[in-house]
Amino acid sequence: MKTLTECAVEVLQTADGRAKTALSRQHAARWFAARAEGVPLPVGTACPPDRPARPLRPELLAPRDVPRRRPGTPEGRIALLHAVAHIELNAVDLHWDIIARFGHVPMPPGFYDDWVKAADEESKHFNLMCDCLEALGSHYGALAAHAGMWRAAEDTAEDLLGRLAVVPMVLEARGLDVTPGMIDVFRRAGDDRAVAALETIYAEEVGHVAYGSKWFNFLCGRDNLDPKDVFHGLVRKYFHATLKPPFNDEKRAEAGLPPDFYWPLAEEG
Ligand SMILES: [Fe+2]
Ligand SMILES: [Fe+2]
Repeated sequence: MKTLTECAVEVLQTADGRAKTALSRQHAARWFAARAEGVPLPVGTACPPDRPARPLRPELLAPRDVPRRRPGTPEGRIALLHAVAHIELNAVDLHWDIIARFGHVPMPPGFYDDWVKAADEESKHFNLMCDCLEALGSHYGALAAHAGMWRAAEDTAEDLLGRLAVVPMVLEARGLDVTPGMIDVFRRAGDDRAVAALETIYAEEVGHVAYGSKWFNFLCGRDNLDPKDVFHGLVRKYFHATLKPPFNDEKRAEAGLPPDFYWPLAEEG
């Protein structure tokens, strides 16, 4: 029987976006079917690639070299959807990577349920963004995208607490801050498809941040550590910028992220 970590590695090794997300959704369905039958797939251990396989397009550029376009124009809206598609594809890999990379750390089955569900949702998000791009006559790969997205994964490849702090609790929490503004851009443009897709993303991302804080607190509690102090230490160690207000305090609270976790990291800059 294939182990969960082997499934994760298969997704990471698949380059094409639609193929990667299709496999991701299949493996997620298999995991949850086995859980429902009471015979969970073994987690096992596996050797994930340092970097996930990615398609030849989009071309990856340093963030400063990715052209900026005004969101008030059709080209600007396509660029925005393209950037979100790129983030979602990266998120699919990030969630399978946390499963594959930390298989040696003993965790309760609920840990895997959460990240498999998150990976499944990111796969749906990527496909939704691709559908929106295609409806506007574009596609994922048509524009350049940020090259630095895997940096957080590389920096925290040896540190599960660091991974949880930086990926769901900093990067995905940032998504909660900026998504309402994006939804407004597409609402003003009358793009109902994009509004609906982004609203799905916004609702489900709260869960991903919540999984991060849940398991971060779990691990700190298991080692009798103060979660807030540990969080500050790890974000300063692994995240190479200060956090940018304004914060979405309400959604962050819903995801179990209190203000004293993130405000002190914003005020240093
Ligand atoms: Fe997502
Ligand atoms: Fe997410």
